[in-house]
Amino acid sequence: MNLKGKRIVLGVTGGVAAFKAAYLARELQRAGATVQAVMTEAATHFVGTATFQALTGLPVYTDQWDTRIDNGMAHIELTRVADAVLIAPASADFIAKLAHGLCDDLLTTLCLARNCPLAVVPAMNREMWANPATQRNVAMLRDDGVAIFGPDSGDQACGETGEGRMLEAEQIAEAMDAFFVPKTLAGRRVLITAGPTFEPIDPVRGITNLSSGRMGFAIARACRRAGADVTLIAGPVSLPTPDGVVRIDVTTAEQMHRAVMTELDIARAVARMREGPVTAATRAANEAAAADYGASGAGARSAGARGAVGGFADGDGDPTSAGDDDPALAGEQAAAAVDYGASAASPKRGIDAFISVAAVADWRVANRSEQKLKKTDDGGAPALEFVQNPDILAEVARRPDAPYCVGFAAESEDLAANATAKRERKGVPLLVANIGHETFGRDENELLLIDAHGSRRLPRASKDALAAALATELAQRLRAR
Ligand code: C5P
Repeated sequence: MNLKGKRIVLGVTGGVAAFKAAYLARELQRAGATVQAVMTEAATHFVGTATFQALTGLPVYTDQWDTRIDNGMAHIELTRVADAVLIAPASADFIAKLAHGLCDDLLTTLCLARNCPLAVVPAMNREMWANPATQRNVAMLRDDGVAIFGPDSGDQACGETGEGRMLEAEQIAEAMDAFFVPKTLAGRRVLITAGPTFEPIDPVRGITNLSSGRMGFAIARACRRAGADVTLIAGPVSLPTPDGVVRIDVTTAEQMHRAVMTELDIARAVARMREGPVTAATRAANEAAAADYGASGAGARSAGARGAVGGFADGDGDPTSAGDDDPALAGEQAAAAVDYGASAASPKRGIDAFISVAAVADWRVANRSEQKLKKTDDGGAPALEFVQNPDILAEVARRPDAPYCVGFAAESEDLAANATAKRERKGVPLLVANIGHETFGRDENELLLIDAHGSRRLPRASKDALAAALATELAQRLRAR
């Protein structure tokens, strides 16, 4: 989306992963970018220049003294028309040179002389990556505003297993795409619920709501790409965790309720702790919140793939374009992107926004059976009794420390009237409505935003595009708060 029309200098350095850069060139182009390949001499031992030339349709540069550039200044000219320089794979040696400003070939010189953002995708043996010298160099690059995507961990070409493996081409292209998203939510913490809940009847049966979780996951991804720290509390869905998002899996509405309240309590306690001196009382409250969290029965926390979505996040787990050529903005983008990585999963403040996208079951079974219910020959059916689940959104909106609350409403008729009434009933400033049966399981949706002043339609578009628009809307509303 954001790569459309972008000009990327793809720097390829010497490493086995250089072959993956060929796939990367194709991915970037597929997303609408123009790719100019520049290779180090070592890289050409792994992949030939002809491969990149054929894939990109542009001549490949390897030599500082290339006479094809009119003024003989390839190191300057190649980046003057670029939106970003992306080094993939970046060897340990190349990272060391970058960190220290060495320039003894075309690619290092070009990086030093560039006036556009730089992103680096490390690829090396796990011991080389873990070596304090490499870690020091990477930290220096981060400090210099360079974005680092990855590395991943897994099987390595040398036969060892560990951290240092280059991200896959699709992940790098996604990270590069995310890089160009304006970081309108940088420094914000967003809590999102998504998917259905499942209320057991017995150990093998239960009741649930229709929800694919796609809209909530798309919103989590969009907020993360806009720079927010995102925690996603997900009901039972089999969707991959968006890159850089912290995910907590739950099954029932009660677990979802508890996970949401615990996240809010912890974030508030941490924010208070950072605001002022720690008293014995706040320390005790924090410890209680943390202990409660461990016992909450909510599923395990996990984070989206290491290093992707801007590749700036730490951790591992399951799986609106800037459109601006202004180098100052590009610099800000890079800084925000780097900052974004540093703050992921390390809360510095309370939660800024709660987006309740989950289709929470209204009732749970009060007389749930510990054993599987048996079918009887007399044709009878079990007498199930129900009890209402807590309304998570309404409860969050009532808290004295309530974040900016966004509710969702799936209606089957009279969308505007029903949704307007629901917004007031729930006590939330913004409600996002859609016709439920027209969106379930689909990639597209159409939304109606309702606040105290009226309503605004977001016309039919992909859930990703709508999620990006919602993230922008949220950023504006948080700024105006
Ligand atoms: O009342 P209804 O289920 O239609 O309201 C929908 C909104 O309320 C959604 O944002 C949903 O996530 C939230 N909700 C909730 N807890 C419930 C029921 C709904 O947070 N028990």
